[in-house]
Amino acid sequence: MRKVFLTLLAILTMAYVHAAEKKVIRISTDNTDLVLQVADNGRLYQVYYGDKLLHEADLQNFDWYVHAGSDGSISRRGWEVYAGSGNEDYFEPAVAITHNDGNMSTMLKYVSSEQKAVDGGTETTIRLSDDQYPVDVTLHYIAYAKENVIKAWSEIKHNEKKAVTIWRYASTMLYFNAQSYFLTEYHGDWAKEGQPATQELQFGKKVVDTKLGSRAAMQAEPFFELGFDGPARESEGRVMLGTIGWTGNFSLTFEVDNVNNLRVIPAINPYASDYLLQPGTVFTTPEFIFTLSDNGTSQASRNLHDWARRYQLNDGMGDRLTLLNNWENTGFDFNQESLAALMREAKDLGVDMFLLDDGWFANKYPRKDDHAGLGDWEATRSKLPDGVPALVKSAKEAGVKFGIWIEPEMVNPKSELFEKHPDWAIRLPNRETYYYRNQLVLDMANPKVQDYVYSVVDNLMKENPELAYFKWDCNSPITNIYSPYLKDNQGNLYIDHVRGVYNVMRRVKENYPNLPIMLCSGGGARCDYESLKYFTEFWCSDDTDPYERLYIQWSMSKFFPAKAMAAHVTNWSKTTSVKFRTDVASMCKLGFDIGLQSMTAEELDFCRTAVDNFHRLKPVILDGEQYRLISPYETDHMAVNYVSTDKSKAVLFAYDLHPRFQGKTPAVRLQGLDAGRMYKVTEINLMPQDNTLAPGQPAKEVTSEDGKIYSGDYLMKVGLNVLTPKEGQSHVFELTAQ
Ligand code: DGJ
Repeated sequence: MRKVFLTLLAILTMAYVHAAEKKVIRISTDNTDLVLQVADNGRLYQVYYGDKLLHEADLQNFDWYVHAGSDGSISRRGWEVYAGSGNEDYFEPAVAITHNDGNMSTMLKYVSSEQKAVDGGTETTIRLSDDQYPVDVTLHYIAYAKENVIKAWSEIKHNEKKAVTIWRYASTMLYFNAQSYFLTEYHGDWAKEGQPATQELQFGKKVVDTKLGSRAAMQAEPFFELGFDGPARESEGRVMLGTIGWTGNFSLTFEVDNVNNLRVIPAINPYASDYLLQPGTVFTTPEFIFTLSDNGTSQASRNLHDWARRYQLNDGMGDRLTLLNNWENTGFDFNQESLAALMREAKDLGVDMFLLDDGWFANKYPRKDDHAGLGDWEATRSKLPDGVPALVKSAKEAGVKFGIWIEPEMVNPKSELFEKHPDWAIRLPNRETYYYRNQLVLDMANPKVQDYVYSVVDNLMKENPELAYFKWDCNSPITNIYSPYLKDNQGNLYIDHVRGVYNVMRRVKENYPNLPIMLCSGGGARCDYESLKYFTEFWCSDDTDPYERLYIQWSMSKFFPAKAMAAHVTNWSKTTSVKFRTDVASMCKLGFDIGLQSMTAEELDFCRTAVDNFHRLKPVILDGEQYRLISPYETDHMAVNYVSTDKSKAVLFAYDLHPRFQGKTPAVRLQGLDAGRMYKVTEINLMPQDNTLAPGQPAKEVTSEDGKIYSGDYLMKVGLNVLTPKEGQSHVFELTAQ
């Protein structure tokens, strides 16, 4: 009898062990694993995010509830992947809903999951639902294997009788368990984009968010850097980079809990956005893009650069046009003849295109300054009697392409559009209107407005099929938050407005797939990876002082490839040399926004050569791997090198900012070269007089490294002596494998 009982017990135990096989979802890239587990309570938990696990069997070793705090305490609530509200988790939820019966709790249980191959990686889709309410959430993750990047977003849907109010809607949620966490956020303002600030995260929440509605990233950037067990370092240590694809109110929440675990919640900012979700409709969150590196920020940035060029950025693998813009040169003061002359100057400079900026449109209230005209997208007859077609023709005659500026989401009250459709503007009906740059934001929640905004591009393209480029600006935040279209549903405005903007961008891309467009927002206040699906590049800042730009470009390059970052040579800092300014702009997508008449013959000659060099080296600078070598934030210098994918070419940019008396000028050690190959070092972008010196005579600005041949090994271990103690110097080197 006892034997029978024991056999039965053994069978039952085996069955239990078998049944206890844990449901595990593994989201893998080449170097990382994000592991999720369905717990015995039916809910989904994150059990791991870190270095790639080598043994599949180890996935069964995780326990959803075992997350030791730094003091050894164990958290039994677990890291719920998409934490609901009103349950045992007392920290920030991913989702919160007020149901039709007034109940404010949501608890999601695992239903099913699947994985399928998609371009560049694997998409994991996980379905969750609430067993008390007809609410479904689908979590999406695309893991890009080679680039070690994951893109995550979620969809929320319900079938309750009436609309529910959703008031938390995270894109995803991630958890970490380290000794300490250091957040580097990026803040800014007009002409001051991408300013880093690092702090150690302590118990409680740190929120980086924006409430500007449009021009949303003016003060807070939608990206961040996380250092684990110490501040993020450039080439060592564990670092995570993350960015949210949302050109509206976003919020990045970092919450350290009672056992020192960190949760990261990227989301649309719920501020003034209790969202009424109708039954059967899907609420899709923005995409959150992140990457983890054990070799510091440098590697994480290259992960994002490679991923963006291959899978996200519009025409990421294609070419980019160099250009001459007229904004900093002429402002609003131009006409048909003066523009034709500038187009000839563009040709003379050797750039691909002339870009006409603000001030070419509107007739009843012509755009002669920023007080009038936005909304009336017809060429001003008094200035441009033959309209845009004549400009396209002049460009053709000059031998350059033609591009044009628009700001289609905005309206000046002094415009025909506003007179005809005052209800198309976001504006409070019962309060005094506050104007930012004398304009209002059009109500993009309104489908009619979306059609109108689309028609701005469409009409110009229909009239001028040879238009080669748009610069799409967005200068105002939303200032008077009320949508005449949404009536008593104002909680949806901030969100539906942004969706409307993206609808139009998507439509433009669908109908004009080969049209390059620059994303601009009163400088760099729009730099998100959703917009960049439709745009080929963005304008980093109106601040083109080359010193300032070096800092801005350093920050932005952590998240965006050089190919996506437009940089122009201007007269913002006349005290610096044209060479210094041009070298700084040549590190990104090069353009000029300067009167060529303001330059000496030598300077102009220099610029022509620099443009030629840039055209020749685009495959290295725009498509190669980027290595930030010497930080302007930590030294009086700055250096960055780019290496072509086959490592046969490299370009090094080195700058002396404001060196102190007897300041250090360390050798610049390059990175990413082939240690076994020999490279010839040639200094390029030289002012003409340097080339006229007698052979052997050291030129004023040529370094002694010019013409030498070194191994990649030497260049990476010993480096080049290219920094100087002189203010405002720059040197550019082309390295060619022999
Ligand atoms: C802001 C942009 O950043 C500038 O480059 C320029 O296009 C102006 N708007 C025009 O109004």
